[in-house]
Amino acid sequence: MGELLRRYWLPVLLSAELTAGGPIRRIRRLGDDLVLARAPDGTIVALAARCPHRGASLHLGHNEPGGLRCIYHGWKLDPRGQCVEMPNEPEQNRFCAQVQTRAYASRERGGVVWLYLGAGDAPPSLPDLEWNLDARCPAYLHASERACNWVQAMEGDLDSSHIGVLHARFDAPDGPTVPGAAMPGSWARGMRMVRELGAPLLDVVDTAYGALYTARRPREDGTDYHRVHPFLFPCHTMLGGVGEPGRLSFNGKCWVPIDDTHTWMLDWHYRPGSPWSDDERAAIEHARYPFPAGEEPGPECDYGRDRGLEGTRMFFGVLSNPLQDRAVEESMGAIADRSGEHLGPADAMIIRVRKRLLAAARALRDEGVAPPGVESPRLYRVRPVGAVLPPGADWVRATQDARDAWSLQP
Ligand code: FES
Ligand SMILES: [Fe+2]
Repeated sequence: MGELLRRYWLPVLLSAELTAGGPIRRIRRLGDDLVLARAPDGTIVALAARCPHRGASLHLGHNEPGGLRCIYHGWKLDPRGQCVEMPNEPEQNRFCAQVQTRAYASRERGGVVWLYLGAGDAPPSLPDLEWNLDARCPAYLHASERACNWVQAMEGDLDSSHIGVLHARFDAPDGPTVPGAAMPGSWARGMRMVRELGAPLLDVVDTAYGALYTARRPREDGTDYHRVHPFLFPCHTMLGGVGEPGRLSFNGKCWVPIDDTHTWMLDWHYRPGSPWSDDERAAIEHARYPFPAGEEPGPECDYGRDRGLEGTRMFFGVLSNPLQDRAVEESMGAIADRSGEHLGPADAMIIRVRKRLLAAARALRDEGVAPPGVESPRLYRVRPVGAVLPPGADWVRATQDARDAWSLQP
């Protein structure tokens, strides 16, 4: 699976986390330790973290014009990974020219730094992801980490049936899951409301970019509410696609392994045709990430769980949806033991995506088949859709135009 992931351009950091001539960042992605810096001229430098001399981490060094200088003996490595200065060796040694380190191909687009961590040449283009391409309507972006395996974390976005349970709120008049006025009551009453919301019926299809599913919920008027959400190889999810015409917004995430047991999560929120105002950005931030960086409560304090809220305001008294997701995903352990699972029809998308990922990894290993999407950036021109359809409708066909409504079509 690591080899598969290395065939793709992967988002690894927010552009805003690197300042020109500023500190060198040390990160781990796909188990590789590397350093990232923005050179004084604004370009990105991405090198293996270990200095090729004796292994000191280059993040301790200086970010200079023309390269990164190790703090230990002053070796300087240019953006291609070539050693260009070796002040602790006499120049006549000509040793410098013989030393190289790993440099990673990088791109920057839409506020995100992308890297290619594979061998050989990187694919020519980044995937055509609308949220990352629309300079007129920049996405709201937030990066955070989860202390568990990336697939385990990503599966939360392939799992519509937990929304009406884990994330249920009893106090929001227009809440995402349980409409209705504030309803103080007991935990049992809350559970009754969760049940009334109804379980979704899932239907899954394979696509060229990965897989697509609908989570269908029958409505009182006899129609069906569909949430139609794609998974795009290797680690992209998309949700939402609801809103009045012209105010349609959606969101999604990129789930990039730090290593087998830690995940870097990029959460994006995008609204085509209508840039987020500063107030709207602040509102998204407040709803989803109400803690200052580094102060989010973790497992040591039950993620800040307040059981006093659980009968009256919310099903799970943890303050935001991403934190609720994090709590349950990390509670499965660093790598969930799948052998003890009991997957049902509500898990159909999780099952399908596991199969697709494994099949693609095996096809690459056994037959050298390029994984889905690697050579086809246009496949990523997809939107998630929320739609009300008549019962029995062909949801794939009925949502085709809305899914293809990529706003940047030439
Ligand atoms: S360890 Fe980096 S220059 Fe010696
Ligand atoms: Fe969730």
